[in-house]
Amino acid sequence: KVQCHYFLLSSVTATGTKLFLYRCVLSSCSWRLVKFLAASAVLVLSLQILVYELSTDLPTPVLLSEEDYRVLSPQTYKYILNQPAACKHRTPFLVFMVPVAPQQVEARQAVRKTWGAPGAETLTLFFMGVPEEQGSGVQEQLEAESGRHADIIQMDFVDSYPNLTIKTMMMMNWLATHCPNASYAMKVDSDIFVNIFYLMQRLRGSPRWGYITGSVIRNGKVRRDSSSKWFVSKQMYPKDRYPTYMSGAGYVFSSDLAWRISWASRYVKMIPLEDVYVGLCLQVLDVRPVYSYSLPFMTNLFEVRDLQYDRCTFARRVIVNGFSPSELVRVWQDFYQGHVHC
Ligand SMILES: *[C@@H]1O[C@H](CO)[C@@H](O)[C@H](O)[C@H]1NC(C)=O
Ligand SMILES: *[C@@H]1O[C@H](CO)[C@@H](O)[C@H](O)[C@H]1NC(C)=O
Repeated sequence: KVQCHYFLLSSVTATGTKLFLYRCVLSSCSWRLVKFLAASAVLVLSLQILVYELSTDLPTPVLLSEEDYRVLSPQTYKYILNQPAACKHRTPFLVFMVPVAPQQVEARQAVRKTWGAPGAETLTLFFMGVPEEQGSGVQEQLEAESGRHADIIQMDFVDSYPNLTIKTMMMMNWLATHCPNASYAMKVDSDIFVNIFYLMQRLRGSPRWGYITGSVIRNGKVRRDSSSKWFVSKQMYPKDRYPTYMSGAGYVFSSDLAWRISWASRYVKMIPLEDVYVGLCLQVLDVRPVYSYSLPFMTNLFEVRDLQYDRCTFARRVIVNGFSPSELVRVWQDFYQGHVHC
């Protein structure tokens, strides 16, 4: 008599989750043989994964010279505006750390009205340097804004695109120093839609230590064309490929990584790409970013492409990229009211 057996073998490899579906039509007497073969296959596969994991060669980290570290080190810069007591009387579950330029008032306003609104479990803070153009009145307005909202943290480095790496290390240092007991932190840009409901739900079941997830980029190619926004010279970074890193648009991590990344930065020379820089620090720590996909279509929950607004599509994402402040507010109003019906 002929029987049908279906095996669903799910194996998590470094390249993501692959599903193998085997359909076997076999007589019941060879059933034992099939089980034996399946067990052997699993064993061989696990060994392969193990060998792969062991053979990913980690270069021995070399401590930076004092001069190389100084540019990056938060100790080099002074706070102009700070919120040292933000976590004194409460322990947020999740801290949103939002890098913005000093003049981006509307972007901050949009975040405060949407996913960054004050909540029982979340804390939202904006991080910046000093305006590139002095004497524009931006600083005075910023100080007034900081007085009203108490959510602005500013250090005295020049706020420019290449200096975003300094800003990121400033955020890590701030969290490690002033809010170490928060469970998670999210570095997220101000033009991002964050589905805070889905995010919180997912985080509740996530590891509390050594955990980082986002839109994972593997084998990223180094841009050597000097006109590129992402140009990096051979002198800054000699290899052709970057280690695995997360897109800087938005990534979430357990808060222990804030001090561990700060520590690792003593071994990693500054490059002007802040997301790659964090990836280089994670490599020193041997922390592997976790993919965030949902089944069955392997949807990337951290959507870094532009995506037309649709309430129920957005309900199944953690972030979506590319919103102007007014678009963010408009989309949020609809989403906030209607997402539960999806
Ligand atoms: C980065 O900030 C430092 C410290 O303020 C400044 O000296 C440097 O010019 C800035 N770099 C760029 C590219 O703006
Ligand atoms: C963090 O938690 C520890 C232990 O519970 C406590 O001693 C410490 O004061 C807390 N720190 C902050 C900044 O809340």
